[in-house]
Amino acid sequence: MPPPRPGGRQRAGVVPGHVACVMDGNGRWAAQRDLPRTSGHSAAEATVIDVIEAARAAGVRWLSLYAFSTENWSRPGAEVDYLLRLVRRVVRKHAPLLHARGIRCRFLGNTDPRIPAGLARDFADLTLLTSRNQGMTLTVAFDHGGRRDIVEAARSLIRSGAAPDAVDEDAFAAHLPFPDTPDVDLVIRTSGEQRISNFMLWQVAYAEWVFPPVLWPDFRAAHFLECLDTYQRRQRRFGGVSAEPNGDEGL
Ligand code: IPE
Ligand code: IPE
Ligand code: MG
Repeated sequence: MPPPRPGGRQRAGVVPGHVACVMDGNGRWAAQRDLPRTSGHSAAEATVIDVIEAARAAGVRWLSLYAFSTENWSRPGAEVDYLLRLVRRVVRKHAPLLHARGIRCRFLGNTDPRIPAGLARDFADLTLLTSRNQGMTLTVAFDHGGRRDIVEAARSLIRSGAAPDAVDEDAFAAHLPFPDTPDVDLVIRTSGEQRISNFMLWQVAYAEWVFPPVLWPDFRAAHFLECLDTYQRRQRRFGGVSAEPNGDEGL
């Protein structure tokens, strides 16, 4: 994807370069089945693998998945423990497949001292294993908060001694974690909820959003492709005017 052109316009009719998913609805999926919430989290594993494969096959270059927010630490301890164990198991189990597919993996956030050392090690191992891969970049947002990233970037900028007048958007963004991350083109939030929940706040500034009602454990490659299709029919304006009929292009 070309970078956004402020004040310009752009047909979205291409595969989005960066897709980000807020994987929501696991608890409701379980509740619908009279199962504990943790069953919904387990069922999410199959969706994650399906979506990674669908994105890669569709030609998406950057895929970001919101797995655990800084706010999710407020959930009951047993649920948090289950999620920590589940993520570890999923990372270990699928590391060979991700590597074989040429996917570069990394973990965004991941700074809280409550993260067990073993899990942090597995994150680091997978990051290192796949660091030279040239295929899709998969960013798993774990213990992630968009506001925290912005505050940390501000701290880093101040520490660098940058002159206030030298700080522009690019200079600021260079202090965010993984500064090579392009702006998000498309956010998919499953389960029908329509909010950001502190996800990649800087990077979603001009993203298109879709809110499929399907709960994350039921979301499959076909749903993902439908979301890409919806995106491709959108017109992105970046604050400019439309070239379509009614866009008053002739004024
Ligand atoms: C998303 O599903 C998973 C995480 C936030 C870790 P939820 O657990 O939020 O599911 P609902 O929203 O309660 O259905
Ligand atoms: C957002 O979902 C976080 C993740 C998907 C990891 P939540 O379910 O935690 O968000 P809220 O509480 O509905 O805003
Ligand atoms: Mg939720």
